Parts: sequence; C-alpha cells; structure tokens
Amino acid sequence: MSSSARRLPAAALAFALVVGAAVPASAAETADEAAQLAKSAPTVAARSDRVEHYGYGTVPSAQQIAGWSIAVLPDGRGLPPGSGTVDHGADVYAQQCAACHGTFGEGEGRFPKLVSDSKLTGDQPTKTVGNYWPYATTLWDYINRAMPFPAPHSLSADDVYAITAYVLNLANIVPENFVADRESLPKVKMPNRHGFILLDPRPDTADKECMAHCRTPDEVKITSTAEGKDLTPRTAGPLDEMQSP
Ligand code: HEC
Repeated sequence: MSSSARRLPAAALAFALVVGAAVPASAAETADEAAQLAKSAPTVAARSDRVEHYGYGTVPSAQQIAGWSIAVLPDGRGLPPGSGTVDHGADVYAQQCAACHGTFGEGEGRFPKLVSDSKLTGDQPTKTVGNYWPYATTLWDYINRAMPFPAPHSLSADDVYAITAYVLNLANIVPENFVADRESLPKVKMPNRHGFILLDPRPDTADKECMAHCRTPDEVKITSTAEGKDLTPRTAGPLDEMQSP
C-alpha cells in the first residue's frame, strides 16, 4: 500500500477495499495478487436448475448476455474497436460535458471536478480521475455507461475514446498526441494505480468463534486495535476506551 492510500479517510479506505476486491484476476500484476483476487472474485453463471425449479423463464444464451454486457475490465477486456484523439475529445467534451464538468474539468457549481491539483495526502483531498482512479479503462467504461448524465450510453465508441483521451490529457497523464483505443488505454499508468489495497491484511478477530456458553460482552476487553499501526487514521475517540453497550 502506498503512503497516499494510508492517509485516506476510513470511508475512502473501505471503498478502496471494495474496488480492489472487484478487480478481475487478469489485471493482477503478480502471482500473489492474482491468487488473492481469485479468492475474492464473485462467480456468476446461468443456473438451468433454477429455471426448472421455479418453472418459469429460460436460461439466457451467451449471445443474449453479450447483448447486455458492456463491462470493460481493468485489463481492457470488453473494450470495443474504435479510437479517439485528444483533439476530437476536446470538441465532443465541449458539447457534451463542459456544462457540468467545466471546460478544463474544473467542475461547474457542485458538479464533480474531473481534474484538480488536490493531493490525496492533503487534509481534505478532492478525489478525481487523475489523482484517484486506478485504471484508464475504467474511465472509458464509466463515461460509456453513465455519461453524459442526462443521456447515458448515448455516445459512440469513438467519441468515448476521444473524450477519455481528452480527460487523461487534462490530468497530464497522456500527451496531446495520445490516441485512445483498446490497445493503448490498458497501458496508461494511472498515478494512483498502486494506491489501493486488495485485501485487508488484519484479522477480524484473534478469538475463537463461540456458539454456546459464550462470554458476556462485559467480559470482553479490547486489548489491541489498529490504532498506531499506521493502517487506519484515527477517526473519533480512542478505541481502547470504548465500552460495550
Ligand atoms: C448534466 C450534468 C452532467 C453532464 C452533462 C455530464 N456529467 Fe459527468 N457527472 C455528473 C454528475 C452529477 C456526476 C456524479 C454522478 C454520481 O456520482 O453518481 C458525474 C460524474 C462524472 C464522472 C466521475 C467523477 C468522479 O471522479 O467520481 C466522470 C468521469 C464524468 N462524470 C464524465 C463526464 C463526461 C466525459 C461527460 C460528457 C460526455 C459528462 N460527464 C457529462 C454530471 C454531468
């Protein structure tokens, strides 16, 4: 874990855990990372026995599932053919995005900033694509599925590539001549790529589980906490003075 992630607020850290756990194994950079991810990856499969059990519906074909599936994985799997330049992205962005996110990503009113100088290590960091998001491919996926806010999933693949290139360029992550496509986006090194931890290494408890003749909560004493171990920043009062209800 990098020092920036260590200083994120607890809520952000919890989010990081969830995001980290959702990363598919193929994007893992080490065998160890891949093994950890494989353990936590959800598995989804069509269940023909369920259809028979409840007596209605049919098992969707792979083709039907593909029609709905627009997910792009961190390693770029799922990205469609097409490409887009920073220049073209600037034009489409000006028409489709600037009203809310500002011409240079600075954000209009209370709409989210896409670019800022804020550092995650600051007291009140503003999380943006540039300083927070770990994968450029996720930016493509997000814009493609969710933006522009009033008309999600209305842009062509080429336009999404172009806007992605433009936003990455605004954040100084790619040069002005960058061309975004299914080959180039997975290779973009996002500054916070290693700021996410995959699995929380702390044990939930060192105690044995108990189903009968258990101790009452009053007998339970907190003898050690994550405080001071540089894992979680202090949030409220000292944990070691907390009383059981
Ligand atoms: C009508 C206003 C509006 C327009 C137009 C719009 N957005 Fe957004 N955008 C939003 C809002 C609101 C959110 C926050 C959504 C949420 O958190 O659920 C958002 C979130 C985002 C985010 C995620 C920011 C983050 O770090 O969490 C990105 C990236 C983004 N928009 C890109 C775009 C792009 C690219 C376009 C143009 C194709 C666009 N938006 C057009 C309102 C808009």
